Amino acid sequence: MKLAGHTVLITGGGTGLGGGLAAAFHEKGNKVIITGRREKVIQEFAARHPGMEDITADVAQEGDVQRLFRQVSEKHPDLDVLINNAGIMQWPDFTKLETLDDRLFDEIEINLKGLIRMTAAFLPLLSKQKEAALVNISSGLAYMPLAISPIYCSTKAAIHSFSMALRHQLRNSPVKVLEIAPPGVESDLGKTDGAAQRDYPRMKLDAFVKETMKALESGKAEMPIGQAKMLRILSRFVPSVAFGILNPAKG
Ligand SMILES: NC(=O)c1ccc[n+]([C@@H]2O[C@H](COP(=O)([O-])OP(=O)(O)OC[C@H]3O[C@@H](n4cnc5c(N)ncnc54)[C@H](OP(=O)(O)O)[C@@H]3O)[C@@H](O)[C@H]2O)c1
Repeated sequence: MKLAGHTVLITGGGTGLGGGLAAAFHEKGNKVIITGRREKVIQEFAARHPGMEDITADVAQEGDVQRLFRQVSEKHPDLDVLINNAGIMQWPDFTKLETLDDRLFDEIEINLKGLIRMTAAFLPLLSKQKEAALVNISSGLAYMPLAISPIYCSTKAAIHSFSMALRHQLRNSPVKVLEIAPPGVESDLGKTDGAAQRDYPRMKLDAFVKETMKALESGKAEMPIGQAKMLRILSRFVPSVAFGILNPAKG
């Protein structure tokens, strides 16, 4: 896709990967609208990028998504890029059943159902444009799970599958379905409710954004970034090796 001349909506666009992409699209002169649940976070981020708009909305709430759709479609009927980026990562341990609490399904509600809900709400508007892009942020962990975050990885594998299927369904429509599969990248992901972040290699945010913008420009549909490229290859040809690298057995 071209990297300029768009109106771009990014969920979870006030921090981390979404924030990096929001800033990059803004710098290239696109109209950028960011969302998130924490009003102050997105307001302060947008204020640092004059012209960027922010709308508080929770992708897990149907009412919020419908309100977001009304606001965006009234003010920006030309919206042509939706980046489904909002996500959380948790660490449920199924060997300690007593610790599994009412947050157990949150990753499914946000990462997967939230992404599908946003897609269903905004597809009619995207479909009205001459050309449009629906960009889903999955993960290298869509190809092979990290066992300490089993539900997160399941949602990412589902997003990968959903993106492939939707791309086929929409092949004769103006909407291109794209998937970005990031590797580990420096961000606040996984710190939900004060959880300690686990130790694994992380790409610098700037390097991730640079490679992702280049990949988007290339016109590819599925874009593993950084080490996610190697994970994709290993998971296809030597899956047990890939699994072992991610999940070294201890004890
Ligand atoms: N960092 C990595 O290593 C990595 C690797 C692969 C894939 N990813 C994916 O990249 C995406 C962004 O993650 P990140 O690493 O940038 O983490 P992050 O900094 O924690 O960003 C997540 C963003 O999503 C928003 N969000 C969370 N739940 C939401 C909800 N229910 N409704 C609306 N917004 C919500 C958060 O804002 P609020 O809390 O204010 O809502 C936050 O701005 C995620 O989909 C993640 O799975 C990240």
